Amino acid sequence: MTAQDDTAQVDVIALTPAFAAVAAALHQTGFDECWDENALCDLLAVPGAFGLLAFTPGLDQQGDGVLEDDIPLGFVLVQTVLDEAEINTIVVGPQARRRGVGQALMENVLLYLQKQGVNRLLLEVACDNEAAIALYRKLGFAEIGRRREYYRRKAGPRVDALVMERL
Ligand SMILES: CC(C)(COP(=O)(O)OP(=O)(O)OC[C@H]1O[C@@H](n2cnc3c(N)ncnc32)[C@H](O)[C@@H]1OP(=O)(O)O)[C@@H](O)C(=O)NCCC(=O)NCCS
Repeated sequence: MTAQDDTAQVDVIALTPAFAAVAAALHQTGFDECWDENALCDLLAVPGAFGLLAFTPGLDQQGDGVLEDDIPLGFVLVQTVLDEAEINTIVVGPQARRRGVGQALMENVLLYLQKQGVNRLLLEVACDNEAAIALYRKLGFAEIGRRREYYRRKAGPRVDALVMERL
């Protein structure tokens, strides 16, 4: 992923299996236990699952009609079951963080769920993940529970998960 300026356009589209390799590469940048292309395709194939991908569209910088490659920025994967949903994962590539991409992905998820009549949205987040917890709090999530030593880390002790719900 190339460096991005703060004003670059951010588009959000459906994450289909065709983007699984792109999503797997992004996932690697965010987690110790990352999901490969096959795992992401399997998750997308579960009934009620959907994903969104954020990217900056390639521009015609030279003015010769040749577009540069699109730049993938991040994605989110969601599982709905009846009128509830859970964030399976969300990640934004390191170069694109703190530019509103994660928030844009989550806001698109909320809009989609609202249209589907899904009112309850839950997620789990490592209790030491300050960036993600701040994002979720900003969007109206609050802690409703804690799973002790839920996440394994490459180094160091296991970490609790906070269970958060958008109230
Ligand atoms: C969590 C993550 C998705 C946030 O994505 P992002 O695009 O950087 O977040 P945004 O720029 O949209 O930030 C929106 C708000 O979240 C909060 N936030 C995001 N990153 C933050 C940080 N590093 N420190 C403090 N607050 C932060 C802020 O309130 C921010 O609003 P502000 O910029 O107006 O202050 C990103 O850090 C990431 O991919 N982390 C690795 C993977 C991960 O931990 N995923 C979550 C698993 S539960």
